[in-house]
Amino acid sequence: MIKAGVIGLPIDHSKSPIIHTYWIEKYALKGTYEAFKVYPEHLEKKIETFINEGYAGFNVTLPHKQSIIEYCDTLDEAAQKIGAVNTVTIKGTKLHGTNTDAFGFIQNIKKAHPNFDFTRGPAVVLGAGGAARAVVYALLKEGAPEIILTNRTREKAESFKGKINIIPWEERESALEGAGLLVNTTSLGMEGQPALEFDLKTAPKGMAVCDIVYAPLMTQLLTDAQAEGLPIITGIGMLLQQARPAFETWFGVMPRVDEGLTKKVLEE
Ligand code: ATR
Repeated sequence: MIKAGVIGLPIDHSKSPIIHTYWIEKYALKGTYEAFKVYPEHLEKKIETFINEGYAGFNVTLPHKQSIIEYCDTLDEAAQKIGAVNTVTIKGTKLHGTNTDAFGFIQNIKKAHPNFDFTRGPAVVLGAGGAARAVVYALLKEGAPEIILTNRTREKAESFKGKINIIPWEERESALEGAGLLVNTTSLGMEGQPALEFDLKTAPKGMAVCDIVYAPLMTQLLTDAQAEGLPIITGIGMLLQQARPAFETWFGVMPRVDEGLTKKVLEE
């Protein structure tokens, strides 16, 4: 029996148990994947329990994505550069931390647009939180010539490294000139959150628009992009794709994202 799970706070809304359990059943594996509510002060104890109970590993979500790093014996390049871990593999008493969010983000775009050219022009990224770190790392790795970063709190954008050009949040629409891709990594437009105000009228022809928000699936930004005739990429694929390498390290099968899974995750 292979055991894995996800830790976070809150954890009730995590879609990870649905995703991994779907694959365990689909590939007829002997395994479990459960969600665990873990307070920051109980993180160390929970890790010990996982080791003692022979867990293969676990996913990590807010608020532990950074604090887990000090418990990891090794980190992959993505986790180091992004500064956050979302997947841990346990080997004996050793923890290996990885970050699969960048993989998920890129795979989602490639699935939607197989010939997408990341080198075509600057990528505009809205937001400078944890999700933006994974997105910016991924885009630079794919060869984006420049990232134009814009965030309500400018200081947060200033902590990003690499070919980054920061523009004020109030002037965000001016970032679109010559851009090949626009990505929303803020929580704006999510159910229960304020709307994202962004006028796409000046968007270059053919610029792709990606929203990592997936509830609702069709955000106002994506609806507007469609109305402008721009290619769009919804956010659900990133969530599903980032889970694949984690599942593979624990269960030994690289799972596929199929329609049944997408439907299930969107419905629940
Ligand atoms: P995540 O890890 O999902 O990226 P986060 O670190 O909390 O979450 O980041 C949320 C992002 O949404 C940030 O870029 C945040 O901007 P600030 O850095 O200024 O907080 C952005 N965001 C949230 N609410 C916003 C709002 N009302 N207007 C503009 N940006 C907002």
